[in-house]
Amino acid sequence: MGDLAGRVALVTGGARGLGAAAAKALAAEGAKVVVSDVSDGSEIAAIIGGAYVKHDVTSEDDWIAAVAFAKDRFGGLDILVNNAGIFWLKPMEMETLESFRRMQQVNVEGVFLGLKHAIPAIAERAQQWEGGGAVINLSSVAGLVGAPNLIAYNASKGAVRLMTKAAAMESAPLKVRVNSIHPGIIDTPMMAGAAAAIEKATGQGANVTRTRFAERHPLGRMGRDVDIANAVVFLASDKAAFMTGSELVVDGGMTAM
Ligand SMILES: NC(=O)c1ccc[n+]([C@@H]2O[C@H](COP(=O)([O-])OP(=O)(O)OC[C@H]3O[C@@H](n4cnc5c(N)ncnc54)[C@H](O)[C@@H]3O)[C@@H](O)[C@H]2O)c1
Repeated sequence: MGDLAGRVALVTGGARGLGAAAAKALAAEGAKVVVSDVSDGSEIAAIIGGAYVKHDVTSEDDWIAAVAFAKDRFGGLDILVNNAGIFWLKPMEMETLESFRRMQQVNVEGVFLGLKHAIPAIAERAQQWEGGGAVINLSSVAGLVGAPNLIAYNASKGAVRLMTKAAAMESAPLKVRVNSIHPGIIDTPMMAGAAAAIEKATGQGANVTRTRFAERHPLGRMGRDVDIANAVVFLASDKAAFMTGSELVVDGGMTAM
């Protein structure tokens, strides 16, 4: 039996990238997984014996419906992975107020709504697990340090970092743990999009971009989705029973320099 047998997890943005990898890893440890996404995640859900729900994290109604779906389908909710997010690179003077707000709407408001609506449901069953219920928020190294062309993303991921701590303080008496993960550059469709934008802007080839991404990490490579999925499973499990409000940095050493 896996570490998460009997538990129900909801993973936002679970149709691809880090969300899909987390959904697979949680299921491999025995959890029943609700794959939520604005895009179709039914294929991933079918592969792991979970269920897909269409869910825009910026919609409060969708959040209420997604939590209800987890309860109806699998009997409750024990783990939330606030993973859905958007990313772009833009110099500050080119960032519009409208697009800055859009980034906060998905990356910040989406996480806030998840904390608000999922934690009460997670608390209902938290006492039955040694390590309680668990929420894992996907922040970033960009929630720890600044970078050029990232003003909107830096703002959003810094907010995720501290919302995690605020929610952890409120949820500790409920035996619900709330932690953030701070990945380096991970090879997902999101990063492929960023690499394509850099290649277009600079004229540099794809190999150059990937090499530069890899070189940012002292361990000498980009991260793999499974590197983050392993961290998600750990934080969700009873092995992390004494961790809440913490920042798990999974960045190949990038921010240790
Ligand atoms: N890939 C990286 O290098 C990296 C690094 C640090 C942090 N992160 C964070 O990890 C998370 C996942 O990143 P990824 O690389 O897998 O991204 P991705 O773009 O490959 O996948 C993101 C998923 O989120 C979904 N999504 C987007 N907006 C949504 C919305 N409003 N409602 C519901 N779903 C929505 C997309 O449909 C997609 O399936 C994000 O929060 C990202 O900021 C990624």
